Amino acid sequence: MPAKLSVNINKIATLRNARGGNTPNVLKAANDCEMFGADGITVHPRPDERHITLQDVYDIAPTIKTEFNIEGYPNERFLKMIEEVKPDQATLVPDGPDVLTSENGWDTLSKKDFLTDILAHIKSLGIRTSLFIETDAQMIENAAKVGADRIEFYTGPYAHHYAANKEAAIKPYVESAKVATENGLGINAGHDLSLENLKFFAHKIPELMEVSIGHALISDAIYFGLENTINMYKKLLQ
Ligand code: PXP
Repeated sequence: MPAKLSVNINKIATLRNARGGNTPNVLKAANDCEMFGADGITVHPRPDERHITLQDVYDIAPTIKTEFNIEGYPNERFLKMIEEVKPDQATLVPDGPDVLTSENGWDTLSKKDFLTDILAHIKSLGIRTSLFIETDAQMIENAAKVGADRIEFYTGPYAHHYAANKEAAIKPYVESAKVATENGLGINAGHDLSLENLKFFAHKIPELMEVSIGHALISDAIYFGLENTINMYKKLLQ
C-alpha cells in the first residue's frame, strides 16, 4: 500500500486571510483536493488564526469524504474542537502559541502523564491519535507507552540535509521507523517534504502510512496547478 497523501491546506487560508475576503475559498479547496486525488485533508488551526480559523475547521469537517486530520497543541480549545468535530485523526504537536511552524517533537518522557491522559481521552472518542516526534528511540518507545496509535516524524531535518547527503539524511529515520514498528506504532511524516525529497523518503521507509504536505505542495500548485501537483506527489508515493 502506498503511503496516503494528506494535503495540508493552511497556506490556502494564509492567502485568503491576506485580503480579508473569501478568495481563495478554503472549503472549496479542501473538497477540490479530494476530487483531485488527495487521500486526506490536514489543517493546523493556530491560536492566532493566522491561517485556518476555528470556523474553517467546523465548516470543512462535515464535507470531508476521505480522512480529516487536525493538528495542534492539545490545549482546552483544541480538545473542545476535537470533541465536537471528531476528525479521523488528531495529531498532537508540542508547539507554543507563537511559533511560526512546528520545529520539534514531543518530549514523551517529561510529558508522560499529560500525554497519557489526553491520548486516552481522544481515543475514547474513537479518534486515531498521532504524536509529532523526532528521531529519538527513547521518545518513540515512550510514544507507544503513553498510548499513541501513530507517530508523525518531524521531517524538517531530513529535508534540510537531503541535498548535501540524502543517505545520511534518511539514516536516523530508517532506524527510528524500525523502533516505531517494533513498538506497534504506525508511521506518518511531515514537514518540508517536497517534489525533490519525497520519493526517496517513501522508498526508504516502506512502513510509511501517511504524509501531510502543505507549504511545498501549495507553492508547486502555483506553477503546475492543484490537480497536476497532487498527481505528481501521489506518483512519488507509488
Ligand atoms: N506536520 C506538522 C505537525 C506541521 O506543523 C506542518 C506544518 O503545518 C506540517 C506537517 C506540514 O509541513 P509543510 O507545510 O512544510 O509541508
